[in-house]
Amino acid sequence: MVEPYACLGQLIACPGDIELVSSRIDAVEPRCAEEEALVAGWATRRRAEFLSGRACARGVMAALGIPPTPIPFDADGVPCWPPGMVGSISHKRGFCVASGARSIQFASIGVDLECGALEPALTDEICLPEEAADLVTLRGWCDHPLTLVFSAKEAFFKCQYPVTRRFLRWRDVAVTFRGSQFTVSVHGGAESGLRGRFGADGGWVATLALFPRL
Ligand SMILES: CC(C)(COP(=O)(O)OP(=O)(O)OC[C@H]1O[C@@H](n2cnc3c(N)ncnc32)[C@H](O)[C@@H]1OP(=O)(O)O)[C@@H](O)C(=O)NCCC(=O)NCCS
Repeated sequence: MVEPYACLGQLIACPGDIELVSSRIDAVEPRCAEEEALVAGWATRRRAEFLSGRACARGVMAALGIPPTPIPFDADGVPCWPPGMVGSISHKRGFCVASGARSIQFASIGVDLECGALEPALTDEICLPEEAADLVTLRGWCDHPLTLVFSAKEAFFKCQYPVTRRFLRWRDVAVTFRGSQFTVSVHGGAESGLRGRFGADGGWVATLALFPRL
């Protein structure tokens, strides 16, 4: 299978603002005893993706100059980042990615990694009518346009949730793409107008949503 690294590399438009570290899920070294304790008893595969995502996240901490710490999670499953940073984790098909930034620059970020085409039958569940109409145009930028819309909404959800604690459905969120960037709006939401970036390569789709400090 093609690896997602080229796709993920497209998310870093401007080195220095956002850090991103990715790996295979089985490449976790060294492990963190506190995190191992959190996932003792979980299914093997889920444990591996959790621990690998955390290992990548500590790579992000190192790149940001933040001392490495364990990353527990809250009652909603949201990772608890150390002071000074915000971050996000995603895993897909044996790979994981963590992305992070300094909290003086961003209130939150969200990253999402997807692979392959989604069932066209899901279009009406995921897309607003105008997004569905734009899928043909999006095909010029990405082989799997429905996956791209889905991923942008996932990244946006993961970006906004730690700040708003608001649950959103697919059709609460409207995404507009331009070049390798997208803008998100939510009916009545203060987080409307958030921007994001996407990458697409070898069947992989990756998205990054950014919640800047106001
Ligand atoms: C949280 C959610 C977005 C995760 O997406 P996913 O594609 O299933 O899985 P990913 O591998 O990309 O991401 C999982 C990671 O997201 C993070 N996460 C989990 N819940 C989160 C939340 N509420 N907010 C932010 N991040 C969250 C965790 O780091 C998790 O990995 P970990 O448990 O190993 O730490 C998804 O499971 C979910 O709950 N969706 C419902 C809301 C939704 O999708 N609405 C429509 C979009 S607007």
